[in-house]
Amino acid sequence: MKLFNSNTIFILLISWSIHPSHASTNLTSLVNLFIGTASGANGGSGGNAFPGSAVPHAMAKVGIDVSTAPRQAGYIHDNSSITGISLLHDEGTGGNTDGGYGNFPLFPFVGSCVGATNAPGCEPGIAARAALRAAGTDVASPGYFSTTFVSGIKIETTSTRRAGLIRFTFPAESSSNTTNYVVVDLTNDLGRSFSGGSISLTSEGRVELAGTFLQSYGPSNYTVFACYDFTPSTIQSGTYQSINSSSPTVFNISLTTKTLSTSLQFPFTSSVSPIQAGGLLGFNASQVTARFGISMISSSQACLNAEEEIPIWDWDAVQTASNDAWEDVLSRVLIDVEKENDTVVELLYSSLYRASLVPANFTGENPYWSSPYPFFDAMFCSWDVFRTVHPLLSLTSPNEWAQIVNAYIDGWRNTGYIPECRANTKPGYVQGGSDGMPILGDFAVKYGGRADELGVPTDDLYQALVDTAENTPPNWLTVGRQNTAWKMFNYIPTDWVDPSGSMGLPTREASRAYEYALGDFAVRQTALAFNKSQDDVFKYGNRSMNFVNMWDPNVTSDGFAGFAQRKFTNGTFAFTDPITCSPVDPVAHSCARGDDNDSGFYESSSWEMSFFAPHSVATLVRLMGGNETFVNRVNNYFTKGYFTAGNEPSFNVPSIYHYAGRPDLSALRIRNVVFTDFSTGIGGIPGNDDSAAMASLLTFHLLGLYPVQSTSQFLIGSPFVSSYTLFNEFFNTTTTFTVSGFDPATLVASPPAGSRLYVKSVMVNGVEKGSVCVLDFADVVGGGEVVIEVDGDTDAAMVRGCGEGLPDSLESGGFQ
Ligand SMILES: *[C@@H]1O[C@H](CO)[C@@H](O)[C@H](O)[C@H]1NC(C)=O
Ligand SMILES: *[C@@H]1O[C@H](CO)[C@@H](O)[C@H](O)[C@H]1NC(C)=O
Ligand SMILES: *[C@@H]1O[C@H](CO)[C@@H](O)[C@H](O)[C@H]1NC(C)=O
Ligand SMILES: *[C@@H]1O[C@H](CO)[C@@H](O)[C@H](O)[C@H]1NC(C)=O
Ligand SMILES: *[C@@H]1O[C@H](CO)[C@@H](O)[C@H](O)[C@H]1NC(C)=O
Ligand SMILES: *[C@@H]1O[C@H](CO)[C@@H](O)[C@H](O)[C@H]1NC(C)=O
Ligand SMILES: *[C@@H]1O[C@H](CO)[C@@H](O)[C@H](O)[C@H]1NC(C)=O
Ligand SMILES: *[C@@H]1O[C@H](CO)[C@@H](O)[C@H](O)[C@H]1NC(C)=O
Ligand SMILES: *[C@@H]1O[C@H](CO)[C@@H](O)[C@H](O)[C@H]1NC(C)=O
Ligand SMILES: *[C@@H]1O[C@H](CO)[C@@H](O)[C@H](O)[C@H]1NC(C)=O
Ligand SMILES: *[C@@H]1O[C@H](CO)[C@@H](O)[C@H](O)[C@H]1NC(C)=O
Ligand SMILES: *[C@@H]1O[C@H](CO)[C@@H](O)[C@H](O)[C@H]1NC(C)=O
Repeated sequence: MKLFNSNTIFILLISWSIHPSHASTNLTSLVNLFIGTASGANGGSGGNAFPGSAVPHAMAKVGIDVSTAPRQAGYIHDNSSITGISLLHDEGTGGNTDGGYGNFPLFPFVGSCVGATNAPGCEPGIAARAALRAAGTDVASPGYFSTTFVSGIKIETTSTRRAGLIRFTFPAESSSNTTNYVVVDLTNDLGRSFSGGSISLTSEGRVELAGTFLQSYGPSNYTVFACYDFTPSTIQSGTYQSINSSSPTVFNISLTTKTLSTSLQFPFTSSVSPIQAGGLLGFNASQVTARFGISMISSSQACLNAEEEIPIWDWDAVQTASNDAWEDVLSRVLIDVEKENDTVVELLYSSLYRASLVPANFTGENPYWSSPYPFFDAMFCSWDVFRTVHPLLSLTSPNEWAQIVNAYIDGWRNTGYIPECRANTKPGYVQGGSDGMPILGDFAVKYGGRADELGVPTDDLYQALVDTAENTPPNWLTVGRQNTAWKMFNYIPTDWVDPSGSMGLPTREASRAYEYALGDFAVRQTALAFNKSQDDVFKYGNRSMNFVNMWDPNVTSDGFAGFAQRKFTNGTFAFTDPITCSPVDPVAHSCARGDDNDSGFYESSSWEMSFFAPHSVATLVRLMGGNETFVNRVNNYFTKGYFTAGNEPSFNVPSIYHYAGRPDLSALRIRNVVFTDFSTGIGGIPGNDDSAAMASLLTFHLLGLYPVQSTSQFLIGSPFVSSYTLFNEFFNTTTTFTVSGFDPATLVASPPAGSRLYVKSVMVNGVEKGSVCVLDFADVVGGGEVVIEVDGDTDAAMVRGCGEGLPDSLESGGFQ
């Protein structure tokens, strides 16, 4: 479904002259923000995509919130009623099914409240006020969102990094017995987790709020602040609050026709409070605009943020600036939108859009330490985003990426460890390894030589990695790794009590070992890139091979031998059926973070995790019995239904055939995955978008590249467009990829025999590459021309393999 902005007429009058982009097309008009907004109810997995208004990497993510869960991003594209429009949201995450953030919603209604307790005509409480949207009125484009109630009240929003405008258009002038009201809700975040706070209305008509709420995915609470101003002036204002906590939906409403200062205070409670409270503002006008600012520091800073970012209430200027910022981001990957397939165009730009929504730039809003470095939130979680989100930033957004990398390093500088899942400003849960490590390793390999120009201190980056690889926090639930065990056993043992007393969640042993191994490889790569000692290069290189210690050669499944398994301290293995926790597991297992997960694997099966060693896939090919068996095994993984398209541990498998010299099979598989699991519909993402993990994966698939994490290598796929151009602002390069012989007939789940899908040769600036399987970062963003020649000869493709050069593996001497 594609919904166009019906409110563009005034925008067309705005000059487009400050436009910084390389594009001549309006790329923002190609973005469909509703992809991935279907309900994940009844066990389905919604995309949890956020379709509201935001600038790139915004803190303010303004959107409407629906009344039915799951609704992790607040919004669901269905007919459920909405309860408000709120200021902060997550993008695509799991976590609390009620959602994260969703703070300080506004809600418009027409009624009569003076002298009232809540009664028909004056219902500020969240359940009673909820209103249905008129069918088909949700409209979204980059920097703008709008919806209209059945009653005719229209809501619109546009925003900057920490501020925004929300406009309410009421169907008619207020009649003699009714007033147009806006509720300013203090207490109802999406998770309904209010634990104390305050609201104050000043005599100038300003509303300031502070509230403490629970994290969506972590053990802590956080405090957030907002500031609202309104135009025109109110004709009534005051507060409402629950009479008492046993009758939270009976309200005491206290309104005056004068603008008087008034406030409500709710002391911090360690258990969530059922109390509902907020401000109630009445207007004698058919259009009311709110300007808001948000802050994690104080309500006065929230007011300053609003005043600085939106000094004059110029709606068109704010919306145009947001649209222009998005145009700049989108135009870093340019294609001929008229010529290429329309579905592919929409998938590509919608994915590029979501891939720059997070992490969120909270610079200036760090409540915990003061620092000259940037502060980012919504690193939710590194586990989700290290595979494809950060490698995509490495291609298109070097300046933004350097800031985010600096935020990771600054987390270490101030807490001793790289942040893993910072969300709601607090450390969230660790899922597997400390997966910020491969992100820093990726940066070191790609930009390390010029890190100083990007403001990233290399010694600190390296020390952050070493400390996270060596030290064990007292509690590795929310940060760090169980390095005591990893270093003592060279694997992660089952049933071991750490004599050091350090604690965490001791499950997911095999998954953790595989991810710890990649983390150590990131240290090895960084040591090499920064000319650290050979001892360090060897030490971390060797440790990164310890994933093999979780390998039980005696376990078989479907006739294939050798699988990752849990292992006791005495060296014997604990058996888990390799299909456990796969989509076709016949037994209901706990496969997530609960302490009842006894499979050894996290959100993945042994069938899947046994393929996860991106730095040494040659080892896996050897352990699994050589090329032919390896290829059969990958095929079996897909045909038997063990592939979990909707979750990250599966990401590297479709292109893993490359390592057995079969890039033709990778190309076929990726076509199948894209057209089977992704679409432009509201259900178009196979699982949670997960902070745009899915969006960035799809982008790579469409461009015919797949990143090898913490290395400069990209596996070459078969692009879904005939040509594209990448712009890298830092290197000041323009690299044009052309597919010679591009065949639109391949743009289906099962390309017909003879269609030209297989990469036959690769030329970079006129020089033929030996390998048709791998390109280096220096080629991808080096500037000039990359010509990828394709043909349809299956037999020739099989014989050709990778040409002269498999992608690197540590075991076979790669990555020097
Ligand atoms: C570009 O498209 C966006 C989104 O549809 C729209 O808001 C904007 O007005 C358009 N800009 C121009 C210059 O056409
Ligand atoms: C909302 O949609 C559901 C599912 O499509 C449908 O069963 C229900 O009748 C609809 N409700 C309303 C009020 O339109
Ligand atoms: C206002 O007056 C109209 C017409 O008399 C009536 O239908 C409506 O219910 C009244 N509204 C309220 C909120 O009292
Ligand atoms: C919640 O916030 C309060 C007050 O800021 C603090 O004392 C308490 O430790 C916090 N609780 C958690 C679990 O973070
Ligand atoms: C709470 O308010 C309700 C409704 O006014 C009243 O019946 C009840 O006694 C009150 N409870 C307490 C604990 O004050
Ligand atoms: C209602 O609120 C007003 C203002 O805060 C207060 O003076 C009054 O006592 C409250 N009434 C009840 C019944 O709680
Ligand atoms: C983050 O915000 C800071 C402060 O406004 C700004 O300097 C920086 O460029 C922003 N970075 C991104 C990626 O938005
Ligand atoms: C595999 O099985 C063989 C034969 O039973 C046994 O000797 C060997 O120790 C087993 N290997 C492992 C790693 O358990
Ligand atoms: C190894 O330890 C496990 C778990 O304690 C135990 O079940 C198994 O019998 C032990 N095996 C050997 C050979 O000691
Ligand atoms: C596996 O395939 C690769 C690529 O074709 C080839 O280089 C390698 O020699 C093969 N290995 C074996 C054991 O045949
Ligand atoms: C970037 O490259 C273009 C084209 O090669 C050149 O004209 C321009 O001066 C370069 N800009 C910078 C800042 O180096
Ligand atoms: C683009 O590709 C999709 C997927 O194969 C196909 O359904 C659609 O018809 C193609 N569009 C055009 C204009 O060929």
